[in-house]
Amino acid sequence: MAIRRIGVLTGGGDCPGLNAVIRAVVKAAILQHGWEVIGIEDGFEGLIEPGRTRQLTLADVRGLLPRGGTILGTTNRGNPFAFHKVIDGQEIVYDASHEVVEHIGQMDMDVLVVIGGDGSLSIALDLAQLGVPVVGVPKTIDNDLALTDVTFGFDTALDTATYAIDKLHTTAESHHRVMMVEVMGRNAGWIALHSGLAGGADVILIPEIPFTVEAICACVKERERHGAKFSIVVVAEGAAPVGGKQVFQHTGEGRAVPRLGGIADRIGRQIVVCSGKETRVTVLGHLQRGGSPSAFDRILATRFGTAAVRLAADGGFGHMVALQGTEIVPVPIGDAVRVPKRVDPQGEMVQTALDLGISFGQ
Ligand code: F6P
Repeated sequence: MAIRRIGVLTGGGDCPGLNAVIRAVVKAAILQHGWEVIGIEDGFEGLIEPGRTRQLTLADVRGLLPRGGTILGTTNRGNPFAFHKVIDGQEIVYDASHEVVEHIGQMDMDVLVVIGGDGSLSIALDLAQLGVPVVGVPKTIDNDLALTDVTFGFDTALDTATYAIDKLHTTAESHHRVMMVEVMGRNAGWIALHSGLAGGADVILIPEIPFTVEAICACVKERERHGAKFSIVVVAEGAAPVGGKQVFQHTGEGRAVPRLGGIADRIGRQIVVCSGKETRVTVLGHLQRGGSPSAFDRILATRFGTAAVRLAADGGFGHMVALQGTEIVPVPIGDAVRVPKRVDPQGEMVQTALDLGISFGQ
């Protein structure tokens, strides 16, 4: 199949490096192949509703490399297989996937490049099964996609979290307090584990290792006995106590996506009681998703974007680009989204932390 025009969209939560991928796709497609690139607005929604696409030229991607967010817009709600629409004031949910396929055909889009996490890539896979030639690019600050060592966005989120922990250290020490930092990551503890190590945390709580408040307090008191009158506790938003449940800000009724959040506040109040220490909680939230990508993420995003174009040229549809070791390789999207990548409680990173005396609340 001779490719003349490709579409590109960004889906799911925004993430540092999305614009760098868009730039790389546009540059490689135009400069190496002379293809036209169509930018699709707000994820898959832009393929359902009319007037939500635009041609992307080299001029459109100038200056994009350091810019956070996505110039195309994104959403974590526009699943075409369960699309929400308001008709005569009534919300209906219907399967709009055939409209998507039809629009892709009408726009003469020969390939669809989907830049997204597990949700968007699963949708891409379902579209591939309807005959759409898709190529995937893995993004997420959570780093929870399988078959790639790392996703772009993770490194920047990690920098932000580490910087925050460094800053909280000074108040922790000066006031002899327990300072808790809640970080993102959904059901994976990658951001908490890595930023906890990089920031010198004393306790790291991750979804993969259920904790008890008693164990956290024992660690705080043990430190006190050795003269360290403060403690830094990094908590992944998806962490949960032994036999207990995760804490949600929103459980996801109706159109809403379930939203984790609030675990640090809950444990913080319990730590005050059991340790007798003043405790403060900081929730980093969307600060971790914002801002300019790190140098590592800019390079990874650029490698992913150009590799996605090469993959499309080679007809590698149904695959996504991935980093394995030092190489960028194609992997089947189906294999990447089947089982999420989680922290191994028996793995070397956790062992490293344990060797330093860091507690996982066990
Ligand atoms: O998947 C990225 C992520 O930032 C998660 O870490 C977090 O749980 C979620 O998205 C937050 O989503 P929203 O932006 O919809 O609140």
